[in-house]
Amino acid sequence: MSKHNHLELSSVSMSFPVKGGEFLALDNVNLKIAEGEFVSLIGHSGCGKSTVLNIVAGLLEASRGGCLLDGKEVREPGPERAVVFQNHSLMPWLSAYENVELAVRQVFRKSMTRQQRREWVHHNLELVHMGHAAEKRPDELSGGMRQRVGIARALAMQPKVLLMDEPFGALDALTRAHLQDSLMEIQRDLNSTVIMITHDVDEAVLLSDRIVMMTNGPAATIGEVLPVNLPRPRDRVALADCPDYNQCRHAVLSFLYEKQKKVETLPRKQSSGEGQETSPSLRKTANG
Ligand SMILES: Nc1ncnc2c1ncn2[C@@H]1O[C@H](COP(=O)(O)OP(=O)(O)O)[C@@H](O)[C@H]1O
Ligand SMILES: [Mg+2]
Repeated sequence: MSKHNHLELSSVSMSFPVKGGEFLALDNVNLKIAEGEFVSLIGHSGCGKSTVLNIVAGLLEASRGGCLLDGKEVREPGPERAVVFQNHSLMPWLSAYENVELAVRQVFRKSMTRQQRREWVHHNLELVHMGHAAEKRPDELSGGMRQRVGIARALAMQPKVLLMDEPFGALDALTRAHLQDSLMEIQRDLNSTVIMITHDVDEAVLLSDRIVMMTNGPAATIGEVLPVNLPRPRDRVALADCPDYNQCRHAVLSFLYEKQKKVETLPRKQSSGEGQETSPSLRKTANG
């Protein structure tokens, strides 16, 4: 397929000023992403995934190198790059409807009538199955529901690029599965480009066209890139027995737990049966 370079990170390095000097978080990150591609970023906690995402979002400026979107340098946040954070970041005093409406008004104030905007907000709440709770405020919603509103808000902006930082990380397994399935559907329908950070190996394989695996920091960079050539639509149950699926899974697990094995500084857990079907979650502590 000859797709043009839609999104391009070139020679991105990022150092943060810290007490007594600089901390080089990222070193020479290079990545090209095609339009409509679904890319996951995976790597151990603290390796620099959020930093990469924030640079693409325009929330952080790279110390060296930069990010191009359709040939234009990213310098600041913009509605064509919507971000879904792990912790929803909704306005607490606004209802679900109003939270989405706020973003819709910013983007479509000139191109949609008030009535069109109203329908569009409802449409996007329906997409994430939140139509019934449109009038509820965030504190009246469960974590999963808030996260869905955050996703609806991002989708409603019709971004070229959807940036998701562990969007389902805090959710229970059933809600997560449901949202993963809706995300796959929505992404197929809209052909959006997605960069999603995850610590969940199964999630990465299920959703991605490519999995970008990052080395441990400091000076983290891209270690390996795994193409996931499983046909779509993908069905989680059917894939459980699929050799290709398991091979992808194995490749990611091996990268994370063999090649980039993290030396734990946390109290040791009893780790019997190492290397077999342990949780693929990278989260080691509650605050990750
Ligand atoms: N503003 C900052 N100042 C100093 N260090 C930072 C700052 N932001 C991130 N870091 C450091 O950069 C590294 C990468 O952070 P981050 O991108 O949040 O990792 P991840 O999302 O993979 O867990 C970490 O070591 C983190 O402590
Ligand atoms: Mg992070």
